[in-house]
Amino acid sequence: MCGIVGIAGTQEVAPVILEALKRLEYRGYDSAGIATLVDGRIERRRSPGKLSRLDAVLRDEPLPGRTGIGHTRWATHGAPTVINAHPHANARVAIVHNGIIENFRDLRSELLAKGHKFESETDSEVAVHLISDYLDQGLAPEDAAQEAVRRLTGAYSLAMIFRGEESLLIGARKGSPLAVGYGEHEAYLGSDAFALAPFTNRVAYLEDGDVAIVRGNQVSIFDAKGRPANREVVITNASSALVDKAGHRHFMAKEIHEQPEVIGHTLAHYLDAAGPNVALDNDKLSKVLASATRLTISACGTAYYAGLVGKYWFEKLARLPVEIDFASELRYRDPVYPEGGAALFISQSGETADTLAALRDAKANGQTTLALVNVVESSIAREADIVLPIFAGPEIGVASTKAFTCQLAALAALAIAAGRGRGKLSAEDEKRLCTALLEIPRHIVEFLKSEAKIEALGQEVAKARDVLYLGRGPSFPLALEGALKLKEISYVHAEGYAAGEMKHGPIALIDENVPVIVMAPHDGFFEKTVSNMQEVMARGGKVLLISERAGLDRAGTDAWAKIEVPDADAFIAPILYAIPAQLLAYYAAIAKGSDVDQPRNLAKSVTVE
Ligand code: AGP
Repeated sequence: MCGIVGIAGTQEVAPVILEALKRLEYRGYDSAGIATLVDGRIERRRSPGKLSRLDAVLRDEPLPGRTGIGHTRWATHGAPTVINAHPHANARVAIVHNGIIENFRDLRSELLAKGHKFESETDSEVAVHLISDYLDQGLAPEDAAQEAVRRLTGAYSLAMIFRGEESLLIGARKGSPLAVGYGEHEAYLGSDAFALAPFTNRVAYLEDGDVAIVRGNQVSIFDAKGRPANREVVITNASSALVDKAGHRHFMAKEIHEQPEVIGHTLAHYLDAAGPNVALDNDKLSKVLASATRLTISACGTAYYAGLVGKYWFEKLARLPVEIDFASELRYRDPVYPEGGAALFISQSGETADTLAALRDAKANGQTTLALVNVVESSIAREADIVLPIFAGPEIGVASTKAFTCQLAALAALAIAAGRGRGKLSAEDEKRLCTALLEIPRHIVEFLKSEAKIEALGQEVAKARDVLYLGRGPSFPLALEGALKLKEISYVHAEGYAAGEMKHGPIALIDENVPVIVMAPHDGFFEKTVSNMQEVMARGGKVLLISERAGLDRAGTDAWAKIEVPDADAFIAPILYAIPAQLLAYYAAIAKGSDVDQPRNLAKSVTVE
């Protein structure tokens, strides 16, 4: 996901924009740049790679100016080179863009035919020449910008500056988030509140089709039809302190170790520990959980795997029928939504384009929409009927860890609430399950004491070319999640399988070079999982068994390696078993020397389809 910052300022903006871009690094990027007005002329500094390289360019060639825009680019069209880095500009206008302009080829042909000269391979650059074309026709910058964005299809958030227009900044949004920040003497544009936090905590989020005209500290917003629009100014809680690693080597390590605390915060929102029982402070939510005819769950990546665990819980505890699909698939298969149905969208960032589009489709099909998010000011949260927060705090590492376990903690509480509301769970059941949930932080603290052992195993796993993860029941999504963690940060090929599926083909992959990581809580699925594990071992497969002490004693004798998880109620196993999976991937990635917090090719939130 690209990052955008714009300032129509009263001070030299390049250093300030650079600092704001650093707060967007967590989104993942592969080039960066800044443009300012210098004596009315547009000047740019850009570089491939990390912001440290742009910083070096700025030190060699300082960039003065009090009006400017900055960008961190996650490449979609065109390699991460200087030429393709934003801002894109000609003599009259400079722009930065997040999203994908789907009709850029037609526009490029039209503009080339008019004599416009392109320098890059990007889709974004068409915006420069389209706006410039309207300027050539005599339109004022505000009108040229509005006319131009009306011709764009796809998703965009844009910030732009204009030759000779000191303190003018224009922003536009459709599909990719863009916030307006209101300062004392100046105003700002930013991809999110986190980027703007050092300047202001007063922000307004633009809506699709909006154009914001910023002059100094004056802001005018116009909607898709060109009518003046008021967008609510909210006081955000985005921390102005740049999140640091708190002594850990990587953000991912810090966030793994934050899980006891942030899971506790999340549970405190959904449970009353005095009971303990579920305590939802939202009558509409309680009604939906009690009466929905079906729950559709949709998300991407790790959030999808959390939803898959949620499916097991909602169906088992509440007898609530659940259909689940990847957000990038759901709306394209024209699903059959039931009368009285609800749809739950899970997203750490709340900005994933596929998930946002799926939410809009479900809403258009009469579903009550719920958003389980870590960023309550996000687009997905703002468009859902009901917002379900998790309290994981900013998750900077691209690999999702604490958000995943907080999503599971919230889903478990919601499944219990649904079970109670639908008369499928007794008060005693509720108390037992809530007690188990409240013990999670203690169990994770206990488990983290064995981290050094897992570091050694991660180093061993890193030597493999292929790795399999197996699980049954609610541990099957954990097998998928474990495989995703490993492949996305260590680049070792890994696949998660339902343990019972191995004999239907994947067992052909087994030999002594393929570690098979078996997640086997000592629950009702244990014996069958052990049978599948023995089928693997009988063919020379090297099994790493993850279970409680009783499970390891029962079935771990011939395992290549073992990881002991604290004895706990089987209900919370999916949350506890996420921790060894996270640590194995983390230490494998370190052994492989990959960029743990910003793995290659990945973005923290994918705001393009
Ligand atoms: C998980 O480790 C990945 N970073 C990725 O799969 C992520 O979970 C997915 O892109 C969804 O992001 P979201 O939760 O912000 O919507």
